[in-house]
Amino acid sequence: MATHYDAAIIGGGIIGLSTAYHLAKKNVKVALFESGKVGKKASQAAAGMLGAHAELEKPGVFFDFARASQSRYPTLAEEVKEISGIDMNLKTGGILKLAYSKEDIESGNQMNRLDSVVWKSKEEALAMEPSISESILGASFIEDDIQVEPTKVCKAFAKSARLLGADIYEYTPITAIDTDSAAITIKSQNETFSADQLIVASGVWSGHFFQQLGLEKKLYPVKGECLSVWNEDIALERTLYHEHCYIVPRKNGRLVIGATMKPGDWDEEPTLGGIGAVMKKAASMLPAVTRMKIDTFWAGLRPETEDSTPYIGKHPNDNRILFAAGHYRNGILLAPATGSMISDLVLGKKVNQEWEDAFAIKDKERQVI
Ligand code: FAD
Ligand code: GLY
Repeated sequence: MATHYDAAIIGGGIIGLSTAYHLAKKNVKVALFESGKVGKKASQAAAGMLGAHAELEKPGVFFDFARASQSRYPTLAEEVKEISGIDMNLKTGGILKLAYSKEDIESGNQMNRLDSVVWKSKEEALAMEPSISESILGASFIEDDIQVEPTKVCKAFAKSARLLGADIYEYTPITAIDTDSAAITIKSQNETFSADQLIVASGVWSGHFFQQLGLEKKLYPVKGECLSVWNEDIALERTLYHEHCYIVPRKNGRLVIGATMKPGDWDEEPTLGGIGAVMKKAASMLPAVTRMKIDTFWAGLRPETEDSTPYIGKHPNDNRILFAAGHYRNGILLAPATGSMISDLVLGKKVNQEWEDAFAIKDKERQVI
């Protein structure tokens, strides 16, 4: 007989792992199935910025959700460290969003009006970070946009979920789902499982399951290439950010530098052209990077949706099936709130109605939030 679970998750990236952790914490008998090893793919490629302000264009429901998720990290980091012994390496310091032109200042105006963003003149910004480029006009300082190490977050969620009773099956790609009976059947190449509820959290590959489950929705890859360097000679406390590119200082002296944006590219290997472009952009923000020694480089596929807003919620025609996919540029930021919201939906608890509406899978286009 197939092993039966209350809930099964397909995908062991940060979204599936956070969901497994939140469900296991509530004593739900949960299984997570992952094609390869957990916490690789997009989640391993991420820089780890919790950039609610830096990344989102304007205040609104999506921003509120992102802020709620961001604010959960400090407590969550302590909670999972207590269970797993693994430190997420949460680092404060915030983000300096650099402005080189009037357009840069104007484009950030809606966010700059928030109390959580402080405008710094060129002199003030250079006093905070003396090594940044003299070409800036000023910068928006966002102290709340802290950072974590995504690989550590994934390991911490995975170990904590296991210790709380979750079964995590690695090297177990799910090849078929059957929803005809009361319990959902989930098949890998060699085994069959069943579950009362199923959560699709397979990153950009969730598109296959949308189709299998009768939905028209698609997900699109946006390839991002990054590198890291060793910084031994300058002080950099805060993340520097401009036009979707960034330099993120890690606790151990590494600087993570990213990233390209290549829509429609399914190739997961970094290219010389991509890494070269990122290095050039980094030098325009922090000239000293050109002297630094290369540590390594990598690439990953951001899971993009039609409107750059994730799908978090139930299948429109089958309450037993849920989706948590399409987190695009912000899956690390959004993982705590996504895992918690899916866990509440599985348990039949009330969730924030605005969030449920904003992230629902609808036949018609969603309202811009
Ligand atoms: P993934 O991490 O891709 O995980 C999906 C998993 O599903 C994979 O492990 C895959 O193997 C598995 N899977 C697929 N099909 C199956 C199947 N049939 N059976 C079983 N398993 C399956 N976000 C931030 O918040 N901050 C950042 O600073 C940041 N920086 C980024 C930098 C780059 C270069 C990139 C590429 C992304 C960045 N992101 C960032 C975005 C973030 O990485 C993603 O939004 C997030 O990792 C998505 O997580 P996920 O779990 O949905 O997908
Ligand atoms: N959020 C950073 C990136 O997607 O590159």
